[in-house]
Amino acid sequence: KQKDTVPWFPNDIQDLDRFANQILSYGSELDSDHPGFTDPVYRARRKEFADIAYNYRHGQIIPRVEYTEEEKATWGTVFKELKTLYPLHACANTTGSSPCWRNTAATGRTTSHSWRTCPASCSVTCTGFRVRPAAGLLSPRDFLAGLAFRVIYSTQYIRHRSKPTYTPEPDICHELLGHVPLFADSSFAQFSQEFGLASLGAPDEFIEKLAAVYWFTVEFGLCKQGSEIKAYGAGLLSSFGELQYSFTDKPKLQPFDADRTSIQKYPITEYQPVYFVAESFEDAKEKVKKFAAASPKPFSVRYNPYTQSIEVLDN
Ligand code: TRP
Ligand code: FE
Repeated sequence: KQKDTVPWFPNDIQDLDRFANQILSYGSELDSDHPGFTDPVYRARRKEFADIAYNYRHGQIIPRVEYTEEEKATWGTVFKELKTLYPLHACANTTGSSPCWRNTAATGRTTSHSWRTCPASCSVTCTGFRVRPAAGLLSPRDFLAGLAFRVIYSTQYIRHRSKPTYTPEPDICHELLGHVPLFADSSFAQFSQEFGLASLGAPDEFIEKLAAVYWFTVEFGLCKQGSEIKAYGAGLLSSFGELQYSFTDKPKLQPFDADRTSIQKYPITEYQPVYFVAESFEDAKEKVKKFAAASPKPFSVRYNPYTQSIEVLDN
């Protein structure tokens, strides 16, 4: 009965082309406090990457990019620093032993050299999650909608070399080191898709809450592992500055509770003042699933993987 007021949502995987370009800033137009703001070479490079994403259509092969020596050196720094921190701070689930993860490790996680070819080689993970180019940070509604189709919008450019510790926006280090290993895990992949399905056609107020829960789990989540606290959020696993900071006594840690977490405000371009700690990685997944299932809409949806489209079921 409320059908007329339901926000538009993609029905077919091809519909994702419609909003892949609605990003919060475009290519070379960086904010004045961005580390690359005064670097014309970096800005021109960002424009090249933005154009790849802008021209990409579903089903095409992602254009391979030759990364410059300087870019590879930046990757090398980020990777080297993170590798020393993961044994201390990364949740075991993020570096699991699935064959697929080892595959990722061989491409994305080892050397800057083999990484060169990674965006193409891991464009489809063993869970069927595929990467598609995005020119920058999408709105929560658009980003979440991709997950319903097992699509992860992914940036291809790398952070500015002057600030490898932390970037104010997602970059290739974030996607490959933070997200890809988890999307290769079957239960995590399923849980991420449920997030996406819950978002389709949901009212703005619920999207805002879902986005906050997503933020404090998939992006910046901490969880207990035995007697220790570990990080599983991709935004932490890609920033050696913030990963270290999150284990100091500066941020405030709170127990993860989806209802409470869903109303927490957060900055998107600086270290987080608050993190939420789940009882375990499994506990985070269960609580998030429950929260997503309570999406207030007058219908439910199901993904048909054979036709790659959404089926709407009237309740
Ligand atoms: N700070 C992250 C890093 O250095 C990147 C990042 C910035 C990010 N803003 C984000 C990641 C928002 C996820 C969501 O790798
Ligand atoms: Fe992310």
